[in-house]
Amino acid sequence: SASFRGQVTLDGPSGTGKSTVARGVAGRLGAAYLDTGAMYRAATVAVLDAGVDPEDADAVTRTVAGARIEVGTESGVELVLVDGVDVATRIRGAEVTRHVSAVSAVPAVRRQLVEQQRGLVAAADAVVVEGRDIGTVVLPDATLKIYLTAAPEVRAERRAGQLGITDAEEIAALAQDLRRRDEYDSSRADSPLRPADDAVVVDSTNLDQQGVIERIVELAGSAVGVG
Ligand code: DC
Repeated sequence: SASFRGQVTLDGPSGTGKSTVARGVAGRLGAAYLDTGAMYRAATVAVLDAGVDPEDADAVTRTVAGARIEVGTESGVELVLVDGVDVATRIRGAEVTRHVSAVSAVPAVRRQLVEQQRGLVAAADAVVVEGRDIGTVVLPDATLKIYLTAAPEVRAERRAGQLGITDAEEIAALAQDLRRRDEYDSSRADSPLRPADDAVVVDSTNLDQQGVIERIVELAGSAVGVG
């Protein structure tokens, strides 16, 4: 079968099923997978553990500059290390989720992690990269750019399903929190969340994840970079 060479970027807000889709596409294409959100979350762990205020941009910059952040997969298991310590579980917790927007809004943090991301991508023949600014900033010349969206209510329902939440008020609160984070990520001065001009926008409101994966694999097959 044809093997894909190149980069697929997958950007969009949280709660669209982006991570599952990115992993699925990477598996189907035989490509590596890079989760850049995990890197911003790991940077946030470093900030919190240093006792630094996430809103103090200078202190955040210094702390993250001094932290060794490593991401990858080992036998299918996500690996996230800060200075050699495994934080893969912690980065998904509420405390990190609450503060990651502030840390990822610091320009020097973004420059540092973007440089690291480009290095990781350069080392791979084929890679699927997931984030917010991959098509717009990190890899402007990517082979295929996807921007994945879904209605906030649908995203909140999916997140609730993952967390085992069934209460309507709690689901409404989740939708509210998603809107707040979207607003923050889309309106920040440095690298705001938005589709690249040449991105294919995929709305997953009425598609299941398998359908989204199929659609992207098809698009990758017709993009240049298939040999
Ligand atoms: O995708 P995620 O929820 O793990 O991302 C965590 C946070 O990091 C999110 O608030 C947006 C930010 N982020 C970013 O600013 N740029 C990226 N390329 C990836 C994530």
